[in-house]
Amino acid sequence: MKNVYKKVKKTYDLGNRLLNDSYHIEGDEKSVLEIKKTPLRSEVINYVLKYLNKETKYLEIGVRYPEENFDKIISKNKYSVDPGTENFKNPVDFKITSDEFFNQLRSGKILTREIKFDVIFIDGLHFAEQVERDIYNSLEFLNEDGFIVLHDCNPPTAFHASEEYLYRLSPSGGYWNGTTWKAFYKFRQKSSFFSCCIDSDWGIGIVSKKLNLGNPTKIINPYFEFNILDQNRRESLNLVSFDEFKVKLSILKKF
Ligand SMILES: C[S@@+](CC[C@H](N)C(=O)[O-])C[C@H]1O[C@@H](n2cnc3c(N)ncnc32)[C@H](O)[C@@H]1O
Repeated sequence: MKNVYKKVKKTYDLGNRLLNDSYHIEGDEKSVLEIKKTPLRSEVINYVLKYLNKETKYLEIGVRYPEENFDKIISKNKYSVDPGTENFKNPVDFKITSDEFFNQLRSGKILTREIKFDVIFIDGLHFAEQVERDIYNSLEFLNEDGFIVLHDCNPPTAFHASEEYLYRLSPSGGYWNGTTWKAFYKFRQKSSFFSCCIDSDWGIGIVSKKLNLGNPTKIINPYFEFNILDQNRRESLNLVSFDEFKVKLSILKKF
């Protein structure tokens, strides 16, 4: 009986500590703020597809539940890639990893080697090394006027940006952005491409080969420290509102 009492007391104390812990309180508040933001990724993706004003080809890397984004996308040709790690039904065109998809594409095993997509949405495995590979593979198969869109580029706290996907007592609760921001920030140092990040839906990164969406970042963060990102979000990610992004695109259209 004593042991049961001890266990209940320990659980109660732990719960109380978590409820009153400042990191958990801040994590909760920031998650709530983020999920209230609009637009969602689908609206942004549809906006850039429409901006292109032609028959488009859309590719989504990492789909999980198509009704949450893929089904909402308006494009003449849509292609989906997912190995089915999170949804065992996995109703996608290519039930393979993104690496395998691009390898098969390159070797002419699927679709055609010459295919170019207009918008590629990168939302697969959220680890920096994989996201970086997804970016460079996507650039190879992206039309010159196309866009890469990346989800989860703006994690609100270090806990959201953790490498531990399965840890559920974290101040980030069930929300997880992984280390995508590191790949995006690193890519933003390149002068040969243009990029910005819409401040909504956990950070929607946009990359263009030819439209000047913003200059490379000058923020120096060689060890990818979260606190340096946090203190320099605007400059590191070129963080803009959706309205600012739309104005930028409309000005660029005139030239
Ligand atoms: C965050 S979910 C995608 C959500 C979806 N894009 C949306 O907007 O609602 C991430 C998906 O990536 C998939 N995934 C995991 N590893 C992958 C890989 N190496 N290549 C492609 N997809 C991967 C998972 O199976 C999961 O379904």
